[in-house]
Amino acid sequence: MIGIAGTDEKAALLKSEFGFDEAINYHTTKDMTKAIAEVCPNGVDIYYDNVSGAVSDSVHANINRLGRIIVCGAISAYNDTSVPQGPRVEPFLIRKSALMQGFIVSNYAEKFPEGMKHLSQWLSEGKLHAAETVVEGFENIPQAFIGLFEGRNKGKMIVKI
Ligand SMILES: NC(=O)c1ccc[n+]([C@@H]2O[C@H](COP(=O)([O-])OP(=O)(O)OC[C@H]3O[C@@H](n4cnc5c(N)ncnc54)[C@H](OP(=O)(O)O)[C@@H]3O)[C@@H](O)[C@H]2O)c1
Repeated sequence: MIGIAGTDEKAALLKSEFGFDEAINYHTTKDMTKAIAEVCPNGVDIYYDNVSGAVSDSVHANINRLGRIIVCGAISAYNDTSVPQGPRVEPFLIRKSALMQGFIVSNYAEKFPEGMKHLSQWLSEGKLHAAETVVEGFENIPQAFIGLFEGRNKGKMIVKI
């Protein structure tokens, strides 16, 4: 399992705390396509996409035949003021017969109580690791929100009021 994050500190945490085999800092890595190919010499079977943009372009270039892409978020594009351009995903999907599917948590609203039960149990048993960045004060909500786009959080960004 390979993680991608925006600082060396976060990349190190992915390995030491969160069970990833390798981690790549996408800010300091010049050629992400090559870097992904190096840590995934047999290609990428499953890509859980939270970011879109250049990082995803590099993963798509490494997707395996019959690979699966779960599109959960696109944070790199949320502040774009024009339609994002870049390598399009279609050639990779066609050539590799890969499957790309959107994911939205509200589809599973009926299962939230069951999910809460399992997740809190796994958390208390130490099977699940979670990180939080806590910002104090109502007046700091805007800065906390903007911080998400600058990678200032490690784990869930929480504002304590
Ligand atoms: N589909 C759904 O149901 C659902 C529900 C909730 C959230 N989401 C989405 O899932 C994603 C993760 O959500 P979250 O709440 O866990 O957020 P989060 O971890 O707090 O996301 C913020 C992180 O995104 C990274 N980031 C910011 N700009 C980036 C960029 N241009 N390229 C790549 N990474 C960037 C930053 O980390 P770095 O330091 O690593 O850059 C930042 O810490 C978001 O895209 C969010 O919108 C989807």
